[in-house]
Amino acid sequence: MISEVQGIILAAGKAKRFNTGNTKVLEKICGQEMILYATRLLELLKVQTTVVVGHQKKLVQKAVQKVHGKRVHFVVQEEQQGTGHALLCAEKVFDKKHILIMNADTPLIDEHIILKLYNNHINTGSTISFVSAHYPDPHTHYGRVIEKDGFFEIIEARDFTGDYATHCCINAGIYIAENTFLQNTLHTLKETNQEIYITDLIKKASEQGNKVSMVKAPFDTIRGVNTYEELWAVEQIQRSQLIKKWMQKGVRFFTPQNIHIDLNVSIGAGTFIGAGTHLLGETKIGKNCVIDAFSYLHNAIVDDNVIIKTYCLVEDAYIKNDAVVGPFAHVGPQAVIGKASVIGNFVEFKNSSIGSYSKAKHLSYIGNAEIKDNVNIGAGTITCNYDGAQKHQTNIESNVFVGSHTSIIAPITIGEGSYTAAGSTLTDDVPSNALAIARARQVNKPEYAEVIRKKQKKHHVADRTTKQKAATEKQSFVGAIKTINDPALFEE
Ligand code: UD1
Ligand code: CA
Repeated sequence: MISEVQGIILAAGKAKRFNTGNTKVLEKICGQEMILYATRLLELLKVQTTVVVGHQKKLVQKAVQKVHGKRVHFVVQEEQQGTGHALLCAEKVFDKKHILIMNADTPLIDEHIILKLYNNHINTGSTISFVSAHYPDPHTHYGRVIEKDGFFEIIEARDFTGDYATHCCINAGIYIAENTFLQNTLHTLKETNQEIYITDLIKKASEQGNKVSMVKAPFDTIRGVNTYEELWAVEQIQRSQLIKKWMQKGVRFFTPQNIHIDLNVSIGAGTFIGAGTHLLGETKIGKNCVIDAFSYLHNAIVDDNVIIKTYCLVEDAYIKNDAVVGPFAHVGPQAVIGKASVIGNFVEFKNSSIGSYSKAKHLSYIGNAEIKDNVNIGAGTITCNYDGAQKHQTNIESNVFVGSHTSIIAPITIGEGSYTAAGSTLTDDVPSNALAIARARQVNKPEYAEVIRKKQKKHHVADRTTKQKAATEKQSFVGAIKTINDPALFEE
């Protein structure tokens, strides 16, 4: 925006109402820390920004720097003496004509509100301007706006004794003020309830005969987050907005009310998202996919026409076009599933890649493996990749058929076009186009069943005698209890 505007974000507070001991500004909303909603908004508007940090300042700084590098500056408020005091701590860095001040705990505000505030401030030649919303509910901690003949005052909830229906506007905690006014006035603010209120600037400006103006915003866009309940409410709103956005782009959500979706997720048109699905982190889903009920995707890249069946966990994985995963599959971390390949029921597939048109459809563990194209991994196959100290690599070349219930002891290479017999424990490389059999030969003993049955009969008889003995003992024990409990015994 606005080259003569400088942004100050107040983020030093202790967040006492969260009752966690931690700063609330690092709580995540749809996967993004609360503070980043404010810093990213100001960056979008090209406003040079300083964040006032205090409680857990190192953590807050780190989170901001991770995204903004050195573009955002910091000042420290060592003791949290209120929002007015926080702004006072930033006074030394004021160097633009107008100072835009925002609480760090109103993550739903958008650029339209800020631009409306700024334009109105400039057009009316105001000394200080602020955002308010209609909110008559008396059960609130928002500061209440009192206006009379252009004279404005904000009274904090705990000090307010007036009529909520008449004074139905609350203060959103977003202000823009002239630098000179702030320099002259900030030092004159007095303590109330052991705090210096930034909101007293409004009354001061009015008292000094300066122009004060107010712009309105819908309450939902300026909701503050002071408790977990408010965090939940805000996240619900943010999430619904995301879901609406993807719906408009052609995504079908089976039950939109119980989908969890993060800010940076993207979904292609024609995709179906099943009930209770979590789409988190940097997950990107292509066109015409099915992500079925209760699947959990975190940082998953999914190409087009992929089917992820119900109850899958997919994390840090890349799934290419036409692949099918699940149900009940665990894919990732570091997994690549090739075009039209199938990872089926109860398969764990991690630190591995599989090429095109390959299958591991049932009950397998694939770890540290590179599997090429058109490979069939039989049910119950395990890559034994760990020797207790190190992980080892399995290579399975194209067109290999691995029989069911095979243990593949890595490091090992199974050559192109080979077969391995079911139930094998493979310890050595298999040459291309070979058949590897690594299991004990079967022995059939003719008529031996009768010998077994006879043995079992003897055992049954012996067993029955022991059981009968035990039952008689138990009976006499029960009899003893009965006798003890017999009231006749206790009669004189
Ligand atoms: C504040 C306003 C209130 C307004 C509401 C809007 C004041 C006195 N009251 O109340 O009128 O309706 O926001 O959401 O400003 N902070 C610091 N240092 C401090 C105290 C707070 O940096 O010493 C930061 C917090 O981290 C937070 C922001 O300032 O991001 C607002 O503080 P908070 O305690 O949430 O103010 P509210 O009680 O919500
Ligand atoms: Ca607040």
